[in-house]
Amino acid sequence: MCFCSSLFLVLLLAVGHEGLHVQGPSGPLVAQLGDSILLPCFTQVPLPLEGLRVEWRKTDAESLVNIFQHGGSRPELQSQSFSGRAHFFPDEISKGNFSILLRNVERKDAGIYRCKVSLHRESSETEMEIKDIERLVVTGADRAVVASVGEEVILNCSVDSHLPANKIEQVSWRRTDGDIPVLLFQDNETFPESSHERYQGRTEFFITEIPKGNFSLKLRNVKMEDKGEFMCEVHTSDKSGYAIVVLQ
Ligand SMILES: *[C@@H]1O[C@H](CO)[C@@H](O)[C@H](O)[C@H]1NC(C)=O
Ligand SMILES: *[C@@H]1O[C@H](CO)[C@@H](O)[C@H](O)[C@H]1NC(C)=O
Ligand SMILES: *[C@@H]1O[C@H](CO)[C@@H](O)[C@H](O)[C@H]1NC(C)=O
Ligand SMILES: *[C@@H]1O[C@H](CO)[C@@H](O)[C@H](O)[C@H]1NC(C)=O
Repeated sequence: MCFCSSLFLVLLLAVGHEGLHVQGPSGPLVAQLGDSILLPCFTQVPLPLEGLRVEWRKTDAESLVNIFQHGGSRPELQSQSFSGRAHFFPDEISKGNFSILLRNVERKDAGIYRCKVSLHRESSETEMEIKDIERLVVTGADRAVVASVGEEVILNCSVDSHLPANKIEQVSWRRTDGDIPVLLFQDNETFPESSHERYQGRTEFFITEIPKGNFSLKLRNVKMEDKGEFMCEVHTSDKSGYAIVVLQ
């Protein structure tokens, strides 16, 4: 009892002496669509829970992300858009760690967040930005593509990402049976010579469409043996995705 109250006093003195000073991340945050992201907010010195209030808001709409007061978080006050997705770490709060874990990140989560910590009459806040919500969605054809022998056919593959096309390091079209290379795009260049002999001279990208993320494949002089599944696989430095197109 005695120990506790003296610790409490020491903490108050530490706060009183240095002023309440919360810290956040050193730069903008980058989140992956659908993943979780940690929004850091902490003090060097732990704070007493009594009289402590931590309020997280997203500043554009002043929407309440979460709030800790009277010794607990108050999820019922959260804005609808953060309901069930933004949690404190209950065991960390007494250590001066008021960070929030935001789950299942959505595109509209990008923006500025403010963590405001108040203790009795003092308060301090930090702001941070979720700058990019990264995504890499690869879409193929929405149905099987039908072609006759000798025809020319387009196999769709489009890449939706927040990234400029030059961040797409590699797009490789392959047949899924036997892993046969059909056409390769890498470091902003097409490598027709890397295609399997079955596809040599018959395949190309629409070069002018590539900056729009359209990596569709043009296949000329369709042969019976082309029937089957084609895969369009896309790589950036840290992510990859693919789509399958069926040719009948
Ligand atoms: C706060 O707690 C979370 C969850 O344990 C941890 O990942 C994070 O590093 C902590 N932050 C600080 C500043 O201690
Ligand atoms: C390919 O993409 C174009 C343009 O989005 C669309 O009109 C067409 O229906 C697509 N074809 C298939 C087979 O999905
Ligand atoms: C890609 O570009 C080609 C050529 O303009 C077009 O035919 C095709 O529909 C485009 N595909 C998509 C998915 O936009
Ligand atoms: C990629 O290649 C295209 C066409 O050759 C060119 O216009 C563009 O500047 C190149 N982009 C980069 C980032 O090298």
